[in-house]
Amino acid sequence: MRTTLKIVLPLIVSVSAVSLLFAAYQVRTEKRILRNDLSRRAEILGESLQESVEPLLERAPERSLQRLVDRFGQREHLKGVAVYNAAGTALAITSSLSPIFRMRPSVATRAAQADKGAGEFLSAEQTILLNKEDAVPIHIYALPLHRDDEVVGTLALFHDTSYIDKQVSRTLRDSLLNAFVQTVLITGLALILVRWTFTGPLTRTATWLRTLRTGQPHGPPNVPQGEIFDELHQEVTHLARDLNTARAAAEEEARLRDSNASLWTAERLRVSVRNKLQEKPLYVVSNREPYMHVFNEKDKSVNVIIPASGVVTALEPVLLACNGTWIANGSGNADREAVDAQDHLRVPPDRPSYTLRRVWLSDEEDRGYYEGFSNEGLWPLCHIAHTRPVFRPNDWLQYQKINRRFADAVLHEMAGTESPILLAQDYHFALLPRMVKEARPDARVAIFWHIPWPNPEAFGICPWQRELVDGLLGADLIGFHIQSHCNNFLETVDRAVEALTEWDRFAVNRQGHVTRVRPYPISVAFPENSRRVNQARSAGAERAALCAEMGIEASLLGVGVDRVDYTKGILERFRGIERFLELNPAYQQRFTFAQIGAPSRTDIERYKNFLDEVGAEAERINARFQSSRWKPIVFLKKHHSHEEIARFYHAASFCMVTSLHDGMNLVAKEYAASRDDERGVLILSTFAGAAHELSDALLVNPYDISQLADAIHRALEMPEEEQAARMRRMRQTVREHNVYRWAAHLLSDLTEIRIEIPDRMEVPMPL
Ligand code: G6P
Repeated sequence: MRTTLKIVLPLIVSVSAVSLLFAAYQVRTEKRILRNDLSRRAEILGESLQESVEPLLERAPERSLQRLVDRFGQREHLKGVAVYNAAGTALAITSSLSPIFRMRPSVATRAAQADKGAGEFLSAEQTILLNKEDAVPIHIYALPLHRDDEVVGTLALFHDTSYIDKQVSRTLRDSLLNAFVQTVLITGLALILVRWTFTGPLTRTATWLRTLRTGQPHGPPNVPQGEIFDELHQEVTHLARDLNTARAAAEEEARLRDSNASLWTAERLRVSVRNKLQEKPLYVVSNREPYMHVFNEKDKSVNVIIPASGVVTALEPVLLACNGTWIANGSGNADREAVDAQDHLRVPPDRPSYTLRRVWLSDEEDRGYYEGFSNEGLWPLCHIAHTRPVFRPNDWLQYQKINRRFADAVLHEMAGTESPILLAQDYHFALLPRMVKEARPDARVAIFWHIPWPNPEAFGICPWQRELVDGLLGADLIGFHIQSHCNNFLETVDRAVEALTEWDRFAVNRQGHVTRVRPYPISVAFPENSRRVNQARSAGAERAALCAEMGIEASLLGVGVDRVDYTKGILERFRGIERFLELNPAYQQRFTFAQIGAPSRTDIERYKNFLDEVGAEAERINARFQSSRWKPIVFLKKHHSHEEIARFYHAASFCMVTSLHDGMNLVAKEYAASRDDERGVLILSTFAGAAHELSDALLVNPYDISQLADAIHRALEMPEEEQAARMRRMRQTVREHNVYRWAAHLLSDLTEIRIEIPDRMEVPMPL
């Protein structure tokens, strides 16, 4: 209340002062106008009377003068008229005028002396002095009377001005009333605004914080949009989120201690990494960056997006838990706007927790290293999806050059850190481990290969298989998702290079340096405090909302979430849906499949064509079945945020992952992690690494279209208890095998490796 008063009181004082001043001004103006008007009227009347009186002065008897004076004395507000001789005595005077005016008033004397008209206002008090009985305010206008150009008398007109005072007090009263009403209205409005804009939201925020403090989850309050509130809202929301996370972590830790279980959490990873790394930062290098700054085409503002990438999905929670530096390709068109002189920026933008170092590539380098060698060569080489790899010598040159550039950037970041730890990511950097290790033998280097490693015959078609394997063997540890990829790799090593393969302990000794090869099934961060604070809608309501947004009518939804990539089995999936609808016409008009497809690598011909193929296939199937408000497939061809995807996961009866070949596939794990209602079915390709852990999914061979159709049918008909039982077990697996466990195992194995450091090695210092 005090604060409200502090805001409102000065407002009342200033509004009243302004209104009063304005009222005073209005009254003064009104008075001036009325007086001027009266003076002018008196002048006109006086002049016309003067013309009539002057001739009478000469010859007519006083009686004629008296008649004239009486006649004129009857006008509106005119109290009377008097004619004085040169000595100042009245020759004729309106009889109703006070006898006091038989003597010339001073203003008339002045008019006679100056030989020109003169006027004067007398207040009631002044007239009391002159005339006790007739005490009204008056205006006297006098003008000289001539005979032969000589002043021989004076004419005076007496107006009653009490009407002016009455009018002015009326105006004063109205203005004061106005001022009062205005002050009351403005004050009332100000009070409402203060309550609405400040007090209300602040009280709601305080109540919300109190609720959170007492441990009850509750959606953030509605506060108005606007600069101060946006910031406050953001900060408070982050604070609340951190509080919730910390509380969930503490609860989890306590539960773990209690049950002796070994669940990995962000907090546990943070502590474990801190112990293992002894406060040293963690370095990560990947091609794809976790945050891209891109210009909005419409208004040229800068948006931040999280790219669709398994590497990003998995590593972000690890970096958030451990701090460190993530070195990646700055590929957003506004990326340069966001970095400092060292090409650094702190991310995530809303709660900076670790450093992102961007490395720049020219278009030509990007074409050779990223599009060419990595994605037209290695990607189809490692995924058995029957797209022929392309190996161009020039792409290979760029690949080597860019590996060197990233290695230099990593070395630059590591300068000054003793025995640093590096986690290199994926097939873009097969040569980098050796490059880093040669310059920094004290560094512990691991590389995680996020895609499959094929059998040696398949890999052997790469003209540079020897160099690639040799580059990888520079690492101390190589991680794959599953054991069979490790086996394939060791077999490839056997064939490609001179090295001692120790199958019994899964290690390779090449020229005295030992590289361990291990499976680490990657995963997602399982949301522990999964009571969905913001998810107000039921699955049914969410489905209805999504259908309305997609412009269709359907009572059942299925979902697929992929980068549009030929390895993901999207065409096969669509054909499975087509077959399902053929076999089960009762589901026509009812069931729709929403395919979220983030366009990917579209500068590569194969990907561009594939995007068109997917669109055309959806259209073909839709054309076969669709009716006015229903269609079997909605292809949502754009990048979707995590929040947007979460709505589809929540609303869908099943999620379909039908990769023809996939390292792990985190969509499968994300779907399970998101279904805290223990509903929904996962249809999963046996050729995705995830199938090794998620055996409660409906496992399918994506090449077998009838099997896909059966799985869809089974998913839609599955009793709720069975859905719940399967989902519960899958969630338990994802929860236990989460990404913190992945990182902890990888880092723990890496830090336990004994590193041979040359005797006289000096740690390079930062430049
Ligand atoms: C796979 C790779 C990642 C890559 C992602 C997206 O998941 O393993 O390294 O980031 O695809 O592909 P992109 O080429 O867009 O980075």
